[in-house]
Amino acid sequence: MTETVLLVGGGGREHAIARALADDCTLYACASNRNPGIASLTAGFEQIGERDATNIVSYAEEVGADLAVIGPESALDAGVADALDDAGVYTFGPRADEARIETDKAFQRRFMAEHDIPGNPDFETFDSAEAAADYVSAYDGDVAVKPVGLTGGKGVRVTGDQLTTEATVDYVLDTEWDDWVVEERLVGEEFTVQAFVANGEVRTTPAVQDHKRAYEGDEGPNTGGMGSYTDTDLTLPFMTDEEYADAVEIVEAVVDALPEYKGVLYGQFMLTAEGPKVVEFNARFGDPEAMNTLPVLSTPFIDVLTAARDGDPLPELSFSGEATVCKYAVPAGYPVDPDAGARIEVNEASVGDALLFYASVDQREDGLFTTTSRSFAVVGLGDSIADAEADAEAALSIVGDGFHVRHDIGTAELVQSRIDHMAELRGE
Ligand code: AMP
Ligand code: GLY
Repeated sequence: MTETVLLVGGGGREHAIARALADDCTLYACASNRNPGIASLTAGFEQIGERDATNIVSYAEEVGADLAVIGPESALDAGVADALDDAGVYTFGPRADEARIETDKAFQRRFMAEHDIPGNPDFETFDSAEAAADYVSAYDGDVAVKPVGLTGGKGVRVTGDQLTTEATVDYVLDTEWDDWVVEERLVGEEFTVQAFVANGEVRTTPAVQDHKRAYEGDEGPNTGGMGSYTDTDLTLPFMTDEEYADAVEIVEAVVDALPEYKGVLYGQFMLTAEGPKVVEFNARFGDPEAMNTLPVLSTPFIDVLTAARDGDPLPELSFSGEATVCKYAVPAGYPVDPDAGARIEVNEASVGDALLFYASVDQREDGLFTTTSRSFAVVGLGDSIADAEADAEAALSIVGDGFHVRHDIGTAELVQSRIDHMAELRGE
């Protein structure tokens, strides 16, 4: 039987989900922007806001959806999974209560402490900016300060790395937020492990390294992620098999403590000299990380969804064994002062062997336009990270004026600097 699936969300991550599902089901999608890549893979695409649970449920009912997949955290936070589940449409994405593992950073740290989940840094939670600022001033060492709610990855500041203690105190006091987590600064290399989760089962995917900072050499403001890479096996070049296994154990411990969780659970880790520590959890695929993971997933994604819904064992996952490198093209000025509303042309024919994913662009009658967020990404695949990087770079010839790309992502030089950094921290 062909399943009818509704996909919620209109970014690069959701284009990757659509591509992974389109051949194996009848796919519909809705998002606030009309993403031409997703629209071209679907039987129908409606412009509905990602937090608009009422209209999303109506659309699911209208198209006769058997299943739904939610891409963005904003929809989870707004209870879209709850609303679809309650309307009888099984949704691969956690209910708002379970999504608090992402949407409430204070809950996330307390939850880890209560359940003795390994990898939790030293932390305190605050409900006033003044109290958080006083704690930062008095803390012996560097800290990360985090607004408790969703900020699109752009609210965190780290002392020693980006800011002095004084500037961090001023930042906390100057923002509009009251609720904060202040935690010990973790030093090491970041990586992501995403898992498919349902009925208490966990199936993990290869480790990915994203690049949060806007400019080459990890300079500039934090972004939603400028690009990412994976290697040919489950690990990354700066990581041992045991360290990957330790990260998987942490993800499994979360699921043991959240037995109702369904959807993707994303662990963001700092690989420190003492092993992986948790930076955060997300309740969905990463963006860009989904664009690395889904193209190399050989197991049909629809089989994961139907097993989750039907209470069958989740399939054991197989992967193609290719390395991947993803690079985003973002509007000039992103994330501080992005040049939104610019008309763009994308010559799909020039992408070559790489994959093209449209992100926060809007297809209107008079053309394709940028928004304030990331515009499109290319993903190269190959027998090594270097091969994949070369494919991604070749495809980037389609990028015109008015865009910014971090060309250093996945280069031999940057990957080697990650390896050297870990060797130095380990005292090797
Ligand atoms: P988050 O929104 O929690 O993912 O934080 C955004 C970014 O801030 C992370 O990807 C890290 O680069 C950095 N960060 C967050 N928490 C810490 C921490 N405890 N120590 C060092 N860096 C951190
Ligand atoms: N790439 C980071 C995120 O999706 O939150």
